Amino acid sequence: MCGIFGIIGKKNCVQDLLKGISKLEYRGYDSAGLSIPSTKEMITIKNKGKVSGLQEKVESFNLFKDDAYSTGIIHTRWATHGVPSEANSHPHNGNQNIISVVHNGIIENYRSLKSSLISEGYSFNSETDSEVLAVLIEKFYEKGQLLKAVNKALKEVDGAYAIAVVSNEDINQLVVARKKSPLVIGKGKDRIFIASDPLPIIEYTKDIFYMKDGYVASIIGDQVKVYDENENPIEIKYEHCSMSPQSIAKDGYDHFMLKEIYEQPEAIESAIAGRVFKDQTEITLEDDILNKDLVNRINRIVIIGCGTAWHAGLIGRNIFERFTKLPVQVDYASDFRYRDPIIDENTLVIAISQSGETADTLGALALANENKTPTLAIVNAVGSTMTREANEVIYTRAGPEIGVASTKAFSAQVLVLYLVAMHIGTIRGILDVDERKRRIKNILKLPSSIRETFKKCSNIKKIASIFKDATNTLFLGRGTGYPVALEGALKLKEISYIHAEGYHAAELKHGPLALVDENMPVVVLALKGRRYSKIINNIEEVKARGGKIIAIVSEGDKEMKNITSDIIEVSEDVGILNSILVAIPMQLLSYYVAVVRGCDVDQPRNLAKSVTVE
Ligand code: M6R
Repeated sequence: MCGIFGIIGKKNCVQDLLKGISKLEYRGYDSAGLSIPSTKEMITIKNKGKVSGLQEKVESFNLFKDDAYSTGIIHTRWATHGVPSEANSHPHNGNQNIISVVHNGIIENYRSLKSSLISEGYSFNSETDSEVLAVLIEKFYEKGQLLKAVNKALKEVDGAYAIAVVSNEDINQLVVARKKSPLVIGKGKDRIFIASDPLPIIEYTKDIFYMKDGYVASIIGDQVKVYDENENPIEIKYEHCSMSPQSIAKDGYDHFMLKEIYEQPEAIESAIAGRVFKDQTEITLEDDILNKDLVNRINRIVIIGCGTAWHAGLIGRNIFERFTKLPVQVDYASDFRYRDPIIDENTLVIAISQSGETADTLGALALANENKTPTLAIVNAVGSTMTREANEVIYTRAGPEIGVASTKAFSAQVLVLYLVAMHIGTIRGILDVDERKRRIKNILKLPSSIRETFKKCSNIKKIASIFKDATNTLFLGRGTGYPVALEGALKLKEISYIHAEGYHAAELKHGPLALVDENMPVVVLALKGRRYSKIINNIEEVKARGGKIIAIVSEGDKEMKNITSDIIEVSEDVGILNSILVAIPMQLLSYYVAVVRGCDVDQPRNLAKSVTVE
């Protein structure tokens, strides 16, 4: 949940550290800090708040010119242990200020380590779990032996970590380690970079090494040495990262979220490319993914994910049931991993994740792997941990998603689930050729349908003003409209801080109807279809209690115009993929509500993009 960046080279690194960490701010942004080891002292500067605040603070020090400041580590925090404060922000230093550490993850046995270190006479300045690492490493440290000290300290800790460590007695060295929290190394022309993910590195180099669990690396000058958990040397294989720096810029949009909403047609086009062809009736999945033997063997599908990915999974369930006739279960990864789920070698477990780093989804995947259950990961972030842990991987190819609120990743997840379901349904003989042709047509039409839907969203800004002072709101839907309603409510609550509940419309009169009054805006997903008349009944029930209806409807729906004037039309015509189209006005609605309420759209309070802790 935190972001780590580090540089080691021969020229001043301070400005580049600050620039780089701002690209990781999506991982956490309640405080930030850096350490520059120098022969005189360990220079550590911290600040509560965003990286921009740290930048201002650092400017008052004279650090930007001297090439002696060529090694450094920097961190942006999402608080787990201890409130956001300067004292709790990273880096944390040992008692002698010789060692400085940045950490992402949770040290689970930090309490016992801390009390035994206190009994040995060490002191602590923060409430964090991370500080024990700094104190422990310094305890074991002897000049010139930084790697040894880190190895010794890591033997004592339980939990998850990605760490970067510097010492002002070895200023040309940086030691990093990884266990259950992501960390990559980038080999630049004359500098080496380390980071939580490749985003801050790609402007310097595309050669990225993905650290595996248990790996520890020592970087001295431009020499990188990596060791496994048994301290055996590992051959480093850099992989080419194709991400472009442009893909992580706002491109003139006010917020990443808005940019990412409008990138959805391209995200879908890229998810389709090479997998769907207009003159073919089968889906082409790369690398023989889900081969015939496996597809014919499975008798159940379990989909796991968290948040938005879980919502995509719920839509996926309806699609899989229809296309494959297999029983499908959708689980919160966090719940699945601590139950005794019924899975075996004939179950297909599909893990969905934008980041590929969500701790709970990784934990659930590990459980499936332990049970020898075939696993497929549907992931957006290239090279992320999940892509290495699952048996097979299908990338959503939505491109980097920076805004905390997931938008284009969601659409691409639904689309990829649709492709997988078609692939399985084809092999299992459930989908005949005509149906496949029709569905392929729908897939190929989706990008233009999304573009058409954007054109119809011009009144959303005005509708957003209805929510300006709202404190509670409901989102209702049926069928795949239900998970989309959940997703709409999640979007609104996370970025505008309005309490929003997604509900199955049929459940309205089983409880939530009691909440409805004239102060309650109710968003209803009411596309034409087999549940339309039922939804109209639900709308009438809300209206009768004075509730304010905002309806998302099929283009040209005249009936709805007699019921409410607050209508958003969707250019629906792509079958069950309409669930992607209806999500778009809800994303835009949340966005404009957050803007009108003056909220921080891309970095909502208390949240982070990548949830790498349980
Ligand atoms: O990276 P993941 O897809 O695994 O993340 C899962 C959730 O944390 C994520 O979807 C979260 O709910 C979003 N902030 C929702 O917009």
